[in-house]
Amino acid sequence: MAHSTPAFGLYIHVPFCASRCGYCDFNTYVPEGRGQQLQFVDAALLELDHARERIGERRVSSVFVGGGTPTLIGADALLRLLEGVDRAFGLAEDAEVTTEANPESVDPAMLRSLRQGGFNRVSLGMQSASPHVLRALDRAHTPGRAVQAAIEAREAGFEHVSLDLIYGTPGESDADWEHTLEAALGAGTDHISAYALTVEPGTAFGAAVRRGTVAPPDDDAQARRYRMADERFSAAGLHWYELSSWARDDAARCHHNLTYWRSDDWWGVGPGAHSHVAGVRWWNVRRPHEYAQALAAGRSPAAARELLTEQELALEAVMLGLRTRGGLSLAALSPAGVRAAQRQADRGRLELSDGVARLTLEGRLFADAVIRELSD
Ligand SMILES: C[S@@+](CC[C@H](N)C(=O)[O-])C[C@H]1O[C@@H](n2cnc3c(N)ncnc32)[C@H](O)[C@@H]1O
Ligand code: SF4
Repeated sequence: MAHSTPAFGLYIHVPFCASRCGYCDFNTYVPEGRGQQLQFVDAALLELDHARERIGERRVSSVFVGGGTPTLIGADALLRLLEGVDRAFGLAEDAEVTTEANPESVDPAMLRSLRQGGFNRVSLGMQSASPHVLRALDRAHTPGRAVQAAIEAREAGFEHVSLDLIYGTPGESDADWEHTLEAALGAGTDHISAYALTVEPGTAFGAAVRRGTVAPPDDDAQARRYRMADERFSAAGLHWYELSSWARDDAARCHHNLTYWRSDDWWGVGPGAHSHVAGVRWWNVRRPHEYAQALAAGRSPAAARELLTEQELALEAVMLGLRTRGGLSLAALSPAGVRAAQRQADRGRLELSDGVARLTLEGRLFADAVIRELSD
């Protein structure tokens, strides 16, 4: 259906984790105490009011509370944040309201409170079903806990439950990954994301790879595991709709993430959160203390903003279009880009039909290279 106003999503970043995983470079901290967590919630509520003043009335079509570990701050705090969204903007009747959760930080009572308070989707960081892989990733949960938490979420009435997996961890074998895929599918969720482990500079894992004490993830193994995942998920009725995400049907897709991939509008609340409204992008200061101080003093927590150049916008359009199953309209490409698309189609990486380019399975394995070719 054509609509003149883009969808509007709200992202709320909870910047706390009980401990840091060695591979993760997200903006998250071990909290100094409960006081710091409550100070963050107060500040985030102030930012929601500030957002309302800045952009006026907008109906919120999706809310995504991510982190960090949102569930670490507890159900009451998460529900206060959701009430703040509703007070400032108002939630659309059918709004998708997601929280990320670490398996060890939820229980049935908490999940019931979240569901009753308006959350309708939960995304659990399962990562792996192999104890030695979870250990290598510094994860705190046991293999069975993520599947159990997914079952508890469904029992608590969550319409949509998703699992996050990671493949290519040093020490992970194909058999480990097979076992993880089995276990994840056995949980019966309607959505799974699977990410190739990336080496982030500035993390403990990044430092170990640099020192040579840990082997970096192997490209061939990662490509093989992506194929294994796609095969197993498809056979079980979960279909890819974005490079790293598979869903049972349209309703099970992460509509909040589609807001990003369609370049609609979103406001990111919280330390380090990024926003994109009416073509302008900005991001907040990263440190929770600095963030809270700015808002308490009545100042915007924004650190900087940018307007993309024509060229950057064109690259982004190719990137966003190709990463989803909907594909990229060839009309968005330069004549050289269309010729590059034809070459990639000849190599079996793109499928061209009805004026739209879509990545094949082979193309998804080389998505970065295809995107570069088409936007040169
Ligand atoms: C940043 S976490 C936030 C949610 C929650 N704390 C969790 O760990 O699931 C979101 C997802 O990003 C993944 N992630 C973080 N760093 C990554 C990396 N270097 N490579 C691949 N995935 C990563 C996490 O494993 C997780 O599934
Ligand atoms: S992966 Fe999740 S739990 Fe681990 S440090 Fe990153 S945000 Fe925290």
